Amino acid sequence: MNISEARFAGSSTRVAGKPKRLLPEFAFIGRSNVGKSSLINMLCRNGRLAMTSSTPGKTKVINHFIINDSWYLVDLPGYGYAKVGKQGQEELKNIIRDYIHNSEELQMLFVLVDSRHDIGSTDVDFIAELGENGIPFAIIFTKCDKSGPNVLEAQIGRDREILLRDWESLPPMFRSSSLNGSGRDEILNYISEILNSTK
Ligand code: GTP
Ligand code: MG
Repeated sequence: MNISEARFAGSSTRVAGKPKRLLPEFAFIGRSNVGKSSLINMLCRNGRLAMTSSTPGKTKVINHFIINDSWYLVDLPGYGYAKVGKQGQEELKNIIRDYIHNSEELQMLFVLVDSRHDIGSTDVDFIAELGENGIPFAIIFTKCDKSGPNVLEAQIGRDREILLRDWESLPPMFRSSSLNGSGRDEILNYISEILNSTK
């Protein structure tokens, strides 16, 4: 799929405040600093679309980006960032929950996982909640440029084992790097298939 136009379409903290024009949405979630905003920029080939930062906790609201005037990429705040305090974490959780449970246009939630570490309990618990609520999701391993191919595949193998403790089958999985663009075609093709199937 070709992205010919990507524009910021608005920020919100509750689903009621999302852009009024209702179109299919594809959202990105994961631990703070995992690379959600960078991935959106990589997919759109626009380094300045979503704000990124080396300090965790950058994205604190829901940001909609309208793509080709026909669907949205949605940048969600990260979960599991201790420094915002208990109350801050609760508020971020409320923003995330309200969106994933109530946004009827959400087609697919991409759960981003850092490809360098074992998938953590925060991610495993979050994914379990998605399963319980029937929210469609796929996994994207981020920052794949940081490991060699053997180390990367071994790590993903461990993550698959961890997930298979809870799940009978695994969701679609993608490998990505916002630095070198790997995974871009696969993720955009997957989105394109979903868009075509809902037409
Ligand atoms: P919050 O909004 O704070 O939840 O973070 P986020 O998940 O949006 O992460 P963000 O995209 O801001 O990236 C966090 C840091 O990781 C930045 O310093 C990025 O440059 C870096 N980063 C993100 N993706 C990649 C990647 O694929 N490869 C490498 N090497 N660095 C990456
Ligand atoms: Mg962000």
